[in-house]
Amino acid sequence: MSRDVLLLGADPQIVPPGDRERIQELAGHRFEVLITEDRDRIEHLAPRIRVAARHVPRDIVTRYRNIEWFQQWYAGAEWTRDIPESRANELIITNTSGIHAAGMAEQILGGVFLFTRRLRRACHAQTQRDWNPGTMAEYSELEGKRVVVAGYGAVGRRVGALFRCLGSEVIGVRRRPLHADSSELEGHKVESQESEDQKSEDHRLSGDQSGEHKLGDEASGDHRLRDRTSATEASGSGARASGYVVGMEELFDVAADADVFISVLPLTPETEDLFDARFFEVLPQRAIFVNFGRGTQVDERELADALSREAISGAVLDVTRREPLPADDPLWSVPNLVITPHTGGFSDRYWERAFAVFLANLRRYLQGEQLRNVVDFHQGY
Ligand SMILES: NC(=O)c1ccc[n+]([C@@H]2O[C@H](COP(=O)([O-])OP(=O)(O)OC[C@H]3O[C@@H](n4cnc5c(N)ncnc54)[C@H](OP(=O)(O)O)[C@@H]3O)[C@@H](O)[C@H]2O)c1
Repeated sequence: MSRDVLLLGADPQIVPPGDRERIQELAGHRFEVLITEDRDRIEHLAPRIRVAARHVPRDIVTRYRNIEWFQQWYAGAEWTRDIPESRANELIITNTSGIHAAGMAEQILGGVFLFTRRLRRACHAQTQRDWNPGTMAEYSELEGKRVVVAGYGAVGRRVGALFRCLGSEVIGVRRRPLHADSSELEGHKVESQESEDQKSEDHRLSGDQSGEHKLGDEASGDHRLRDRTSATEASGSGARASGYVVGMEELFDVAADADVFISVLPLTPETEDLFDARFFEVLPQRAIFVNFGRGTQVDERELADALSREAISGAVLDVTRREPLPADDPLWSVPNLVITPHTGGFSDRYWERAFAVFLANLRRYLQGEQLRNVVDFHQGY
């Protein structure tokens, strides 16, 4: 009788031989391991697939009830909200949340520096061979500035850690602020990718399964962890770092006093179209708006209007409603808007990190243990 299939949706040429051997060693006794990205071949194999990973068509994952576990190779999982209830009960999907944190945070910081250090204008002036320093008032620093980070998960916490290094006050916005742990605010040092990944996994496990609050909450007695004395610390450079975490109901309040507003929110019914005319009215004129979550969270016409009227001072979008953004889209020529082509998660270490998440989960799966980074289909992240 033919064995169940473990399918890695990849061109065999791109899979490092060592990684192929690792899967084979781990699962070869139980599964026939197949590596292909070819849709016809996958369709043909579909009735035998039990475990699937990476690039596997979503309709196949959803349709074939024999598929027990799908390890997707990216973080955003909004598509899982459309999986029918009958199928959702028997399917586990895990994502790679956590692996993008370093690249995303660095690209976000770079985007903000383009404005605060006047680098956009310097690049443009260079193309004109124009030595044009501008005025002192056109240069600002992030030390002491208020940075709001909406979506305080794996990526958001990394973003917060980088800004705290610069001495900014960081305000995280989460769906469940009661799950905030005081260590989220102690980041005057940047944690390693590995420890962030681990924290993300732990956070998911403690948050999604236990339903309990962490000790930090009980100790603080205040879900906002607004103890600025203890959360405010001198960093190595002498810069002051502080912050607190709030829930979604306070989003507009904290946005009203933001120097930099960053969103790395997952796409959910609550976050779709969130950044609308009312939101851009609330942001102060000095604010820089950054979105690395999903394009449909922003009303692009309203953002363009706010930028054109100089009602906010700049924006960085890594995601847009239409992707790829067509060449004739008016967004390209909006003043003080920087657009990057959804590259926040790109990294030369992507395969290595995503594969590590998959392999660790495969080990757990084979031992009948709880998987990490399990997506909640109702929430879509
Ligand atoms: N531009 C890119 O290339 C790129 C790359 C990777 C990811 N992303 C985007 O970034 C998102 C976040 O990734 P991640 O790895 O950081 O995910 P994550 O670890 O799952 O974190 C998501 C965070 O968002 C919060 N959240 C969810 N719904 C919310 C709501 N309605 N209101 C307020 N907070 C809410 C969660 O709060 P709780 O923890 O309290 O539940 C959590 O803190 C992804 O879903 C994806 O859309 C983009």
